[in-house]
Amino acid sequence: MCGIIGYVGDKNCARILVDSLKTLEYRGYDSAGIVVVNGKLEVKKAVGRVAGLESQIDYSTFNGTTGMAHTRWATHGKPSVPNSHPHFDQSGTVAVIHNGIIENFAELKSGLLSRGHVFASETDTEVVSHLIGENYSSDSTLEEAVAKTLPLLHGSYALGVVSSRDPGKIVAVRKSSPLVIGVGKGENFIASDVPAFLAHTNKALVVDDGELAVLTPRSVEVFRRGKRVKKDVWKVTWTPEAAKLGGYPYFMLKEIEEQPATIPRVVAQNEAGIRRVAAKLKGAKRVVMLACGTSRHAALIGRYILMKDAGIYCDVMLASEFSHFAQSMDRGTVIIAISQSGETADVMDAVRSAKARGVCVYSIVNVLGSTLTRESDGVIYMQAGPEVGVAATKSFSATVLMFSLLSLALQGRYRKDAKGFVDGAAALVKKTIEDNRGTVKALAEELKGSPAVYFIGRGINFATAIEGALKFKEISYIHAEGMPAGELKHGTLSLVEKGVPVVTINPADDTYEETVSNTMEVRAREGLVIGVSDRPNKIYDRFIRIPEGADPLLYPLLSTVPLQMLAYYVGVARGNDVDKPRNLAKSVTVK
Ligand code: F6R
Repeated sequence: MCGIIGYVGDKNCARILVDSLKTLEYRGYDSAGIVVVNGKLEVKKAVGRVAGLESQIDYSTFNGTTGMAHTRWATHGKPSVPNSHPHFDQSGTVAVIHNGIIENFAELKSGLLSRGHVFASETDTEVVSHLIGENYSSDSTLEEAVAKTLPLLHGSYALGVVSSRDPGKIVAVRKSSPLVIGVGKGENFIASDVPAFLAHTNKALVVDDGELAVLTPRSVEVFRRGKRVKKDVWKVTWTPEAAKLGGYPYFMLKEIEEQPATIPRVVAQNEAGIRRVAAKLKGAKRVVMLACGTSRHAALIGRYILMKDAGIYCDVMLASEFSHFAQSMDRGTVIIAISQSGETADVMDAVRSAKARGVCVYSIVNVLGSTLTRESDGVIYMQAGPEVGVAATKSFSATVLMFSLLSLALQGRYRKDAKGFVDGAAALVKKTIEDNRGTVKALAEELKGSPAVYFIGRGINFATAIEGALKFKEISYIHAEGMPAGELKHGTLSLVEKGVPVVTINPADDTYEETVSNTMEVRAREGLVIGVSDRPNKIYDRFIRIPEGADPLLYPLLSTVPLQMLAYYVGVARGNDVDKPRNLAKSVTVK
């Protein structure tokens, strides 16, 4: 959950690295650091955001044509200057940046301590730099020293390594953490994610697990067990603007508001790929979806869509709980793993254990070339474009629509109906956003001081309730709880008293009447009832109106979008950094 970027080329790179690091801040933002090779290794580190690091840099003096930078989400050791990356070897000639966790670092560290090494930090990464330094004898190259170190390391890593002895070179390796290479003209990059170098090149290659890359200004060579491997360089279609604010105050707002534009992209899929997955689902003994957080909520909606529309029953499992059920999976099972980042450790762990049992795994992923895409039997891309805000918004809508496309494919209606369905959805989402801006902003002012907010819904709208609550709490830092409306009376109702806000997701589908009854239970306790519906009702104290006449399978999407907006405006009203909510990171690569 850290962001790494490296540059080797002809230009002075400090500013390039800092600008790139800003695009990676979504991966971690508790401290940052940079190293440039300028005869010796020059370093700057700061606790907090990249802006704080930048304020320490005088670009006229701090420079070099090779360098690396890092933004950290602390695991081993608190956020502090010594714990920030890069870390150095004993001689101070080798610098390392790292995303991942070295699981056996304690054992390795005690060996190094007994050999007289002195450590400057509490991190697992510093152990790696010391080991590389130990293996970097006067007659070995940097890549040989790195290759010799790797067998000692257990855990996950994307590592970037530079040395003042070899100034025009970066060595990078990957095991279970993302690493892409940007291939430029007279300059090359390593990064955790493509947007980091998109301002400089749109040519990328993905480093696979177990590969080691050596970058110089004019060459990129990738090796596996010492043998050169040929890699495909692909052209990235995302524009650098897609990962910029473009006049919005926050990425979260930009990403909510661009949903009408991103939604139609889901049909720009390889139709054959969707049909292949559909065919596999038809023949499956059991279908299981695996995901975490918002992606799991999208899966819960997908479960209703596939069941109601296409007659396919499936289970949805939290990826972090999957291991407790793994034994009941066999070759007849088909898994659909859903992950925006394609890097979530809980998902990867579950996928690997399922694959080890012979289970076929398809994935729905947003980030091109991410670990999940490389380890799945087939991939459907969300096509949502880079999602920078930590809260998932447009990737959620893309996933929900992907299930409708799968359902159309299962019914043999894809070619005839997919485009119309998705374009219709985009138009309704646009209307929902436009109709609700004022209402939701005013409601946010009203709710910003509430100690807690509850969200209820039935059937397919239950998933909307829990997604609404998740978004609300992570962005506002106000307690929020979502539940099936029928469950309220089984406990949580004891918390409802005069003025307690309860958001009732109640579109005019077959759950309407029963949800009205549950909402009456709230009214009877003088709770503040906030209705989300296409059908007004006098039981609502406040009303978020969604467009009338929509396909009921679109209700979750149309109800969730204003709840994303509500979370955003409450977060802003409370002065929170809505793009980087405290303690969270976009890509959760720890279990
Ligand atoms: C909430 C949110 C998270 C993610 C979860 C899974 O707004 O973004 O709950 O949905 O961490 O992430 P991915 O989809 O990358 O596996």
